[in-house]
Amino acid sequence: MQEKIIVLGSNGQIGTELVNALRKINGDDNVIACDIRRPDYDIKNSAPFEFVNVLEKDVIKAVFDKYQPTQVYLLAALLSATGEQNPKLAWDLNMNGLLNVLDLALEFKTKKVYWPSSIAVFGPSSPKDNTPQNTIMDPNTVYGISKLAGERWCEYYHEKYGLDVRSIRYPGLISYKAAPGGGTTDYAIHIFHDALKKGCYQSFLNAGSELPMMYMDDAIRATIELMDAPADKITVRSSYNLAGVSFTPEVLAAEIRKHIPNFELTYGPNDPRQKIADSWPHSINDDYAAKDWNWKPEFDLEKLTVDMLDNLKK
Ligand code: SER
Repeated sequence: MQEKIIVLGSNGQIGTELVNALRKINGDDNVIACDIRRPDYDIKNSAPFEFVNVLEKDVIKAVFDKYQPTQVYLLAALLSATGEQNPKLAWDLNMNGLLNVLDLALEFKTKKVYWPSSIAVFGPSSPKDNTPQNTIMDPNTVYGISKLAGERWCEYYHEKYGLDVRSIRYPGLISYKAAPGGGTTDYAIHIFHDALKKGCYQSFLNAGSELPMMYMDDAIRATIELMDAPADKITVRSSYNLAGVSFTPEVLAAEIRKHIPNFELTYGPNDPRQKIADSWPHSINDDYAAKDWNWKPEFDLEKLTVDMLDNLKK
């Protein structure tokens, strides 16, 4: 059966790459990119694009009506750092955007819904190392609070209404195609740009701030693999823990120095993102993803560093 796929928030760091991946599999015309801004990336101008603000339910509804999607991906969100600058907007967008889409998916009998969660659902009391799927969760950013609440809603819509909604708790995502969206893990992208352009970078996180990270290729593959998995294999209907690679700014800089020997890393003055980083896990246990849908990351630190530098040089 031919899929018709709507991607809401298609211009962001994830959407930019996910739309292209989904179009390769399903054909350009069967993947409808939707965002509040016009796409400025390398998608074909002829491929479908709709202006959508996920807070305007009637506008999303018109898009559902026009395309009758079999799958919907909701990526529009305010991330951890920007969310703290505008907590009410972050809550409104992250929460009501999700509820709008869940309700429309039910109304239009959409077969599958994808919604990303994050390592931000964990908090200061969560175990830091090899953080389990089910554990203490006390997020203290509005982003983390909204993602944890969203996970509960996803599971609720699955249990109560039988909606096939699937989710991953992404670690910090590293990519070169589109800019990151205002998160705590963004340093791990900026560092590559500055290393090539200036030979130095001032990190807003401390030398030893270890966080779970993942290369975008792995994240896109995980997303599509989860969505392709048979429904009866999906035992987690809140959101799956997913692990790629964990490192600190200091360790990442050492890896970059293998290619740019004189690269210099300095550390900036106190930054509010440090407190957020301190509240998050160092590493993630993703046994459920491995067992349920055979998840296995391909990019380690060495491989992602080479790929980032190669592509940014182009
Ligand atoms: N990269 C995200 C952030 O820093 C984590 O989900 O907000």
